[in-house]
Amino acid sequence: MSATPAAAPPDAAPDAAPAAARRAARVRRALLSWYDANVRPLPWRRDRDPYRVWVAEVMLQQTRVEAVLPRFERFLRRFPDVAALARASEESVLAAWSGLGYYTRARSLHRAARALRARGVATFPRDPAIAARLPGVGRYTLGAVLSIAYDMPYTALDANVVRVLSRLARLPRPDARGAPHQGLAEALLDRARPGDWNQALMELGETVCLPRIPRCDACPIAGACEAHAHGVTHEYPPAKARRATQRVRLALALVHDDDGRLLLERGAFPYLPHLWLPPARLGDGVRPDGRSAGTFRHAILHRQLEVEVLVERVPAAVLERRAAAAADRADASGIERRVFSRAARARIGRSSLLTKALALAPLVPRGTRARRRR
Ligand code: ADE
Repeated sequence: MSATPAAAPPDAAPDAAPAAARRAARVRRALLSWYDANVRPLPWRRDRDPYRVWVAEVMLQQTRVEAVLPRFERFLRRFPDVAALARASEESVLAAWSGLGYYTRARSLHRAARALRARGVATFPRDPAIAARLPGVGRYTLGAVLSIAYDMPYTALDANVVRVLSRLARLPRPDARGAPHQGLAEALLDRARPGDWNQALMELGETVCLPRIPRCDACPIAGACEAHAHGVTHEYPPAKARRATQRVRLALALVHDDDGRLLLERGAFPYLPHLWLPPARLGDGVRPDGRSAGTFRHAILHRQLEVEVLVERVPAAVLERRAAAAADRADASGIERRVFSRAARARIGRSSLLTKALALAPLVPRGTRARRRR
C-alpha cells in the first residue's frame, strides 16, 4: 500500500507557486480557525489515545457520527484496550458491533488486535510500515490514526473530504489511486496540526459542505471554493455510474418454540456469512414451512431484498432435533446451526435483517408466557 506521508506540493510555474502556496495557507488558516471555534466534543477527541482513535475511525467508515456515538462508548467499556479486544471471542466483538453494519470491519479490528498482542504491542503502532500490515488498516485508517493520535503528516480522505476537495477545486472523480484529490490533500495538509486539519475537513464535509444542499453561507472557505464561485456545487463530486440495483426475493424461516427460543444458522446466507440468521431461502428455492407474517424490504449494498417472514412454532424437542440434525450435516459445509434463547440472542452480533423479521413476528407475544403459566 502506498501510504506515504504527504509530499511537498508538486512543482508549478515559478510565479504561480507562491500564489498557490499563499492560497493554500489562507484556506488552512480559515478552516482551522473555524474548526477551533466549532469543534464538536466527540468522545474520541477527549484524548488522543491511539486505540480509541483507531476504533472510532473504523466505526466511522460508512457509518454516520450520530450512529457511532452510543456504540463507541459501549464498545470501549467492553473492550477498553487492545489486550481486552484480543482476549475477547469473535462472537462478543460482533455483538458489541450490532447496529453498525459492515461486520467485516469488526472482524478485521479483532484480528488486528490479536496480531498486535501476539507481537507484544499494546496499541495502534506509530510505525506506518507495521500498522499498514494489520488486517483492515487501509490508506484511510492509517492516515487518520497516525495524524489524529500521533500528529504525523498523513492525509485521510473519506467520502466527506473527497466532496469538499472536489468542490474546492472542481475536480473530476478520483481514480483508483485517489488522484487528483490525494495530491491536493497533500498540498493543503497543515503540517503543524495534521490531525486537527484532517478532522476539520471531515467536520466541514459532515456539517456544512453537505451532499445535497451545502450550507455555503456558513462555510469558512467558500471564498476559495471554485464550485461555489461558479454556482455549481451540486455538480461536485461528479456522480459515478451507479451499479444497477439487484432485486432479490428472500424467505426467512423463524422456527421457534413456546418460549421464544429460535433456530439460527451461520455460514449459509451468502451476503452475510458471518452472522447468525434464521434459515433462509433465496430466490425461487424450496419455500420453508410456516405461516407468512408479512414482508419487509432490506438493502445490502446494491441488493434490494424483498423479505418474506415465515413463522413455524414447534415443540422444544423438535427444535433441538432440527438443530442437532443440521449440526451433523454442517461439519462438511461449514454451516453452523444452534437454538438461541432470547437472552442468548442479545449476546450475538445481530443483523438488522433479524431485528426487522422479529419486529414483524414477535415470537412470544407480550404476556403470553405469564398467562400460560398461570
Ligand atoms: N469521520 C471520520 N472520522 C472522523 C473524525 N475523526 N471526526 C469527525 N468525523 C469523522
